[in-house]
Amino acid sequence: MKIIRTIQEMKQHASKLKKQGQAIGFVPTMGYLHEGHQQLMSKARQENDILIVSIFVNPLQFGPNEDFERYPRDEQRDIKTAEYNQVDVLFIPEKADMYPSPRSISLHVLRRSNVLCGRSREGHFEGVVTVLSKLFNITLPDKVYFGMKDAQQVAVVDALINDLNYPIEIIPVSTVRELDGLAKSSRNVYLSDQERDEANNIYKALQFGLKLVVDGEKNPDNIVQEVKDFILSNTHGKIDYVELLSYPELTPITSINEQVILATAVHFERARLIDNVVFNGQ
Ligand code: PAJ
Repeated sequence: MKIIRTIQEMKQHASKLKKQGQAIGFVPTMGYLHEGHQQLMSKARQENDILIVSIFVNPLQFGPNEDFERYPRDEQRDIKTAEYNQVDVLFIPEKADMYPSPRSISLHVLRRSNVLCGRSREGHFEGVVTVLSKLFNITLPDKVYFGMKDAQQVAVVDALINDLNYPIEIIPVSTVRELDGLAKSSRNVYLSDQERDEANNIYKALQFGLKLVVDGEKNPDNIVQEVKDFILSNTHGKIDYVELLSYPELTPITSINEQVILATAVHFERARLIDNVVFNGQ
């Protein structure tokens, strides 16, 4: 496995691979790799000649009161995980190389971002699309792999690729979960034992909401309320949002007769956890 730390070297290497006609699969991450990331790598490994993974904790997508400084990092362990997953190139750029200051260009997300995490994390998706358009230009992928755990991110990246005409295919990958249903996340290490015991109720609440739909409930407000009640009575977490929207457009719905997303974010003491289910309401 090749470890590349500069943009210049990564660009040169990627264009060499392209000239050789190699198909490049790319998995962007912020590191502290777990089985969710590995699922993306494994799919990308199967579908491409070359697998590039990036690790970059992107300061631009964290708000001033968020956890950029204490976001978990373990480069040595990540290098081993990447090797184990047969990564060809691990790209670990420096902050100063990615964002020489002052910046002159800024990208704005006009749709799909004023709901869910985009509403509570102002500027978050601007940061995500900015870093991803840079990473796409640097690594020249044919296919990029994103987890449905961050379903809004998938919807926004899908729009980025379409609106800016990137010659890239986005491959969404299903959420990888712990045995009790909790979505795997780098931030789960910040849960106390009690919070960890309770946290599986987030997914249970979403499944409960889904069951209400299957059993005939068609009013989105009722479902959202029931899911909130479930979370509040089974965890000590503070609900950031529970929303039921069309997917991937992420617009409000009055009845459930299309593809929809039921999504939530819950604050625990030191970690904010998100989860969702996407299903067809017809
Ligand atoms: P990060 O949180 O490290 O996630 C990297 C990728 O792994 C994302 O596509 C995310 O959806 C996926 N992922 C995380 N947990 C998962 C799980 N339990 N199951 C399946 N996939 C999972 O998302 C980011 O980084 C950043 O926003 C990034 C795209 C790298 C831009 O900075």
